[in-house]
Amino acid sequence: MKRLIVTGAGGMLGADVTRQFSSNFKVTALTRKELDITDKKAVRQVFKHYRPEIVINCAAFTRVDDCESMKETAFSVNAEGPGILASACRDSGALLVHISTDYVFDGSKKSPWKEDEPKAPLNIYGESKLQGEKRVEARCDNYLIIRTSWLFGLNGPNFITTMLDLSKKRDELSVVNDQEGSPTSTRDLAWGIKMLVMHDLCGVFHCCNSGSCTWFDLCRFVFEKRGIKGVTLKPVPSESFPRPAARPEYSVLDTSRFKKFTGRKMRPWQQAVSEYLSDLEKGATI
Ligand SMILES: NC(=O)c1ccc[n+]([C@@H]2O[C@H](COP(=O)([O-])OP(=O)(O)OC[C@H]3O[C@@H](n4cnc5c(N)ncnc54)[C@H](OP(=O)(O)O)[C@@H]3O)[C@@H](O)[C@H]2O)c1
Repeated sequence: MKRLIVTGAGGMLGADVTRQFSSNFKVTALTRKELDITDKKAVRQVFKHYRPEIVINCAAFTRVDDCESMKETAFSVNAEGPGILASACRDSGALLVHISTDYVFDGSKKSPWKEDEPKAPLNIYGESKLQGEKRVEARCDNYLIIRTSWLFGLNGPNFITTMLDLSKKRDELSVVNDQEGSPTSTRDLAWGIKMLVMHDLCGVFHCCNSGSCTWFDLCRFVFEKRGIKGVTLKPVPSESFPRPAARPEYSVLDTSRFKKFTGRKMRPWQQAVSEYLSDLEKGATI
């Protein structure tokens, strides 16, 4: 079995990636406490000790609004960290799988974004992630950059859990209806990442559940599925919720390259959300 390291293993995606890969690889899952990817010396020691053949970087500073005021941390974790991992992978010959985001695009068009379309992030988070991609591309040849969007999963708070919590406290909820994206299950994404790795692919790929919706549509779907009736949902524009970081209006990713090269298709977001809700109800854990 190939030796594989997951960084950021304590996060929402990191936990699913660890689980997904454990049946076919010798996985070492490292949380932030066990490996800070911005610590060059610690990264070198980990490479020396575990001699990974594959590294999947799920570590990131993901609090989009906080990135605006914590610019240094955002660039350190989302740009310098991946650069450090890329240099270590280049020197050891390991494959680096790096996860990136739909927020590298500005959301200004109305059809799904292809991998090579112009990047123009609207916020610090997106800019720091874009710089991370650039460092990976510049420092090693053997890499997979996988952009994804609107994640939800069992190992972390996300939009769905936030709305379910709010439904217990309010009779009316306003939800943004002018941002469109593809909600994606971290379980499905972990499977998608495995497909790309197993097919020995490299380069940049988009991987998300299929279909798209607005945050309002997603919330309405969740509440209908859960049978939540006593809460009125109000669709509102983004300007009703002034936030530190601007968000793209349309960040749906084109996944045809994933389909072409793996021969597989990610399922519709509605199916993934339904499965997630039933897992939540059962109290499932990863
Ligand atoms: N969430 C989304 O909607 C979304 C959308 C598109 C793309 N993505 C990308 O998908 C990937 C996974 O995101 P996620 O939602 O799973 O994020 P997450 O739940 O926030 O997990 C990120 C993990 O990285 C860890 N981390 C932070 N700084 C670190 C460092 N210096 N060294 C090592 N680990 C560090 C965090 O630890 P602490 O919790 O201790 O800080 C956390 O466990 C990221 O690359 C993200 O940019 C996410």
